[in-house]
Amino acid sequence: MKIFLIAGARPNFMKIAPMARVFDACPDIEYKIIHTGQHYDHNMSDVFFQELGIRKPDFHLGAGGGSHAQQTAKIMTGFEEICQGERPDLVVVVGDVNSTLACSIVAKKMNIQVAHVEAGLRSFDLRMPEEINRMVTDSISDLFFVTEEKGLENLLNEGKDKNAIHFVGHVMIDNLFYQLKKLEDMERNDLPENGFKLEFPEYGVVTLHRPSNVDDKTTLTSIMETLSTVADTLPLIFPIHPRTRKNMESYSIVPSKKIRLVEPLSYMAFLNLWKDARVVLTDSGGLQEETTALGIPCLTIRENTERPITVSEGTNALMGTSRQKILDSLERIMNNGWKIGQRPRFWDGKASERIADIIKRTFNDR
Ligand code: UD1
Repeated sequence: MKIFLIAGARPNFMKIAPMARVFDACPDIEYKIIHTGQHYDHNMSDVFFQELGIRKPDFHLGAGGGSHAQQTAKIMTGFEEICQGERPDLVVVVGDVNSTLACSIVAKKMNIQVAHVEAGLRSFDLRMPEEINRMVTDSISDLFFVTEEKGLENLLNEGKDKNAIHFVGHVMIDNLFYQLKKLEDMERNDLPENGFKLEFPEYGVVTLHRPSNVDDKTTLTSIMETLSTVADTLPLIFPIHPRTRKNMESYSIVPSKKIRLVEPLSYMAFLNLWKDARVVLTDSGGLQEETTALGIPCLTIRENTERPITVSEGTNALMGTSRQKILDSLERIMNNGWKIGQRPRFWDGKASERIADIIKRTFNDR
């Protein structure tokens, strides 16, 4: 059986790593890794392949940059050619980035089966490009691998066949536990920005890259002002996404010196920081889940989340862009008054094994 594993943007790499490891141990699965090239900087891509132990991609489409339409079109054209030559039995797409959407459409139009990992998540906010990617991908997928109960419910509400939906847990949490173990055995002094941790026993970590937060000058200025106030209480470190850096520069935004701005970090260097942070302030989807898995307080700078279990069971809370909410929450966290949370069902490091078993069963039955 021949599988294509698709990865394109930074948050995809930690999701394919554990699946590739499990597929490596399955003699009846032959898989190829397709990197669309959506993310292309060394520190947004190659460093993750190295650290997460993912082998070199079998195909690289080099389709990064440009508008959404240009990027999606480039990925689709390149991927179609590969599918024509290789004819895989199954294309596995993860998450909600443009590469997920592009490759699922190409595969389905060629009558190739599509499995969506992280299916069923919905923010119900169509202003988010990711919401469109999630909805379109789920509308044509054959197999749905779900990370939380709400995903299951959303897919059933949309009329999907319940036999095609599998609640397996979260491959990204498989990766987190695997890398955490490796980090324990590592010499941390070699990791970038470990010095920040040594300098400040208590600190917070920031990430910000959603177009709704960083593309508009007034919004980005106001968020950075709030973060500068937070940094008066708690030093912050902020590995800055290329999109956010470009906008900060063009809007001439100069944040407080108490915010340490650094280049995007590798998985290990970043994990080494956030796992011991007092608080994480973010608009990332994945980080909301990873902080919940380790019980770190997370303030999400968004009005909604497609990952509601991180709020109902985990350590996450939605702030919107409200200065007051962020400062009140910070006070609660600093006074040890934040909720404790619990790790959601099936976030146990075994999601990739469940996925491989289901794929084998599904295809053996045919
Ligand atoms: C993409 C995903 C988003 C994900 C995020 C993680 C979509 C619609 N969005 O957003 O869901 O949370 O990745 O990072 O797929 N750039 C570089 N170097 C790189 C990568 C990007 O300079 O290695 C630049 C691009 O040229 C572009 C900007 O950053 O100007 C945005 O990149 P893009 O891949 O379009 O979207 P992200 O904002 O990264």
